[in-house]
Amino acid sequence: MTGVWHDEREQSWLLEMRSSCYAFGLADDAAAVRHWYWGPELPRAAVAAARAVPGRWEEHLSLGREFPDEYVPWGGLRYDEPTLRAEFADGTRAVQWRYSGQRVSREGEACVLELDLADAAYGLQVTLYYRIYDGFDVVERWAAIRNRGARPVVLREALSANWWMPPGRRWRLRYLHGGWAAETQLTETLVGPATLVLESRRGTTGHHLNPWFTLDPDGTSTETSGEVWSGALAWSGSWKIVCESTPAGRVHACGGWNDFDWAHELAPGEDLVLPVFAGLYSGGGFGAASREWHAWQRAHVLGRGERSAVARPAWPAPAPPTSPAAPAAAAGQPELQPVLYNSWEATGFAVSEDGQARLAELAAQIGVECFVVDDGWFAGRNNDRAGLGDWTPDPVKFPRGLTPLIERVQALGMRFGLWVEPEMVNPDSDLYRAHPDWVYHFANRTRTQRRNQLVLNLARPDVAEWVFRTLDGLLSANDIGFVKWDMNRPFSEPGWPEQAGRNPERIWTEHVRNLYAILDGLRAAHPGTDFESCSGGGGRVDLGILGRVQQVWTSDNTDAWDRVAIQEGFTQVYPAQVMAAWVTDSPNFLTGRRLPLSFRFHVAMAGALGIGGDLLRWDAAELAEAARLVATYKEIRPVIQRGSLYRIASARTDPVGASEYLAADGSEAVVLCWWSPAQLGSRLFRVRLAGLDRDARYTDAGTGAEHLGAALMNVGLDLPGGGDFGSALVRLRRC
Ligand code: DGJ
Repeated sequence: MTGVWHDEREQSWLLEMRSSCYAFGLADDAAAVRHWYWGPELPRAAVAAARAVPGRWEEHLSLGREFPDEYVPWGGLRYDEPTLRAEFADGTRAVQWRYSGQRVSREGEACVLELDLADAAYGLQVTLYYRIYDGFDVVERWAAIRNRGARPVVLREALSANWWMPPGRRWRLRYLHGGWAAETQLTETLVGPATLVLESRRGTTGHHLNPWFTLDPDGTSTETSGEVWSGALAWSGSWKIVCESTPAGRVHACGGWNDFDWAHELAPGEDLVLPVFAGLYSGGGFGAASREWHAWQRAHVLGRGERSAVARPAWPAPAPPTSPAAPAAAAGQPELQPVLYNSWEATGFAVSEDGQARLAELAAQIGVECFVVDDGWFAGRNNDRAGLGDWTPDPVKFPRGLTPLIERVQALGMRFGLWVEPEMVNPDSDLYRAHPDWVYHFANRTRTQRRNQLVLNLARPDVAEWVFRTLDGLLSANDIGFVKWDMNRPFSEPGWPEQAGRNPERIWTEHVRNLYAILDGLRAAHPGTDFESCSGGGGRVDLGILGRVQQVWTSDNTDAWDRVAIQEGFTQVYPAQVMAAWVTDSPNFLTGRRLPLSFRFHVAMAGALGIGGDLLRWDAAELAEAARLVATYKEIRPVIQRGSLYRIASARTDPVGASEYLAADGSEAVVLCWWSPAQLGSRLFRVRLAGLDRDARYTDAGTGAEHLGAALMNVGLDLPGGGDFGSALVRLRRC
């Protein structure tokens, strides 16, 4: 049973989860909270016994086998990455605290422990939060920092949490890196004496690195076996995760807001709540760790809003609902994602009411459920040099506004979706002409443009309110069921000259806090509207944004073969149902590669299926095949979007990439396989399944053949093979 066990006499705590636990306790002088254990289940007696030996913690310290700080304030003999650095008004720059209390509470399926620490001399207080969930091994950690003194305190670094690995092993760090059109590439390095920093300094999550990691001992864990410790941040701005080995050989990873160029002046009475840094332990290899991340996100993250349980900015007050509510999600499960069509690759900026309507007719014909008009619909937007900021329909392209197109789309049985990029402005726009001071900038410095655009200073309450009111107005005036929220450039010149001398560096965190408040306000006011996060492809994918959107755009690279690797990385932490994937034209606009339509579908069917090709150029046979495959996707969608994902073969290392999705009740499995041209006789046409009932029989829905579960798992499934780029979709039903 999930719960927090507190041994009052020994002042230690044990977080008991489904199959793992996490323990810590007070140092003898109550001046520190010492981490003790994170790993497989442990009896309570083991925690008590370790703590009961007098001087045990300090004895271990002197032997170099530290029981390190749970949350590390800078001060004293501490030299590794701290989680908190503060400067007091009298110039003191060290924190020295004492334990001051604890609370345990239940919030539905979650149990929350709050641990209070108070600085010995100043009014600085910190509450450490731990939240665990029934049936899961995920620990959510964050902190709230409060100034109860009479003078301001400047925070120079405030990370959310610090994760300690067990001592005495050589650790391997795995993480996701990439770039535009090459997101979520899985990579790894051994943790040596040098500090490793994963981070974004761009103001947004970023393509280059994603805020997630795994650590496994001795680099020996595999997809199916071994111990894995993993962490993921719920933050969509500049972030950092520092992984290092202390001189005594203890490896830790701490993370949260990036302190680069950042400071927060905490006023007397002010509370600052930090974002969640979630972590999990799995004894079943990388695959089991991913499935735990997926299931937990489906149950407790997607669409749930803020992760940190304490107050967030109250602004803006949501307007009353204007759209009909979305149908209630079945039994606490998020809705299944619709099959959508997006016009970007087909039309670019050349959007018109008739052109979109013709695409919509074909989209409806092949079974699309949501038709999304991408960039190019608003005033002055004929290329990427103008228009951002002026969020009214272009009077030339839509002389009667959007309503006639929306009505045509709805008459075809689809929801209507629209692209926006609300944090941005083109200098060539009415908004910028009216408010040139609304963008981040420094006095006497160039305002660096990227894609001909500048970033709105969302940290300004008036700008944030304008964004909210503008989007709220757009959604109120038009029946829009889906919003694709894009963000196509990182920050530069992050200045706010009017606030010079008044802590303008807080823009890094205020921007994202206001972005979240805007999204939360819009979701509350328009519960029938779904959101997709996009940032020049997959540049804003993290647990923070996933609390506010139904899906994310994975990458602008829609070449299906490239997508196999991108998707393999993506699913290390994020679930298939949020992984938007389109079938586009062949040859691909980016790579020039020609791939069969079935291959392109089979890759996109591994996530939230969408269509992004120019349907007006697809011939009748292609449209008919597309309609068949969309219908098949709708049948398997509950298993793909809600099932357990087993990455049964990796196209990075094997000649075939394959994913298996298993229904929660085990009654159905779907296998998707993709292979590249054979080389040097390397072809492998058999994949071994996982997670099945060994003694049950399974029918292949395509061939009618029956297989024993044990045979499918031990011998494997024969694939048809053939072709330069081939793919297969196999559906198995338990008899
Ligand atoms: C970048 C996105 O990733 C694309 O899908 C598209 O929406 C363009 N922006 C539009 O400008």
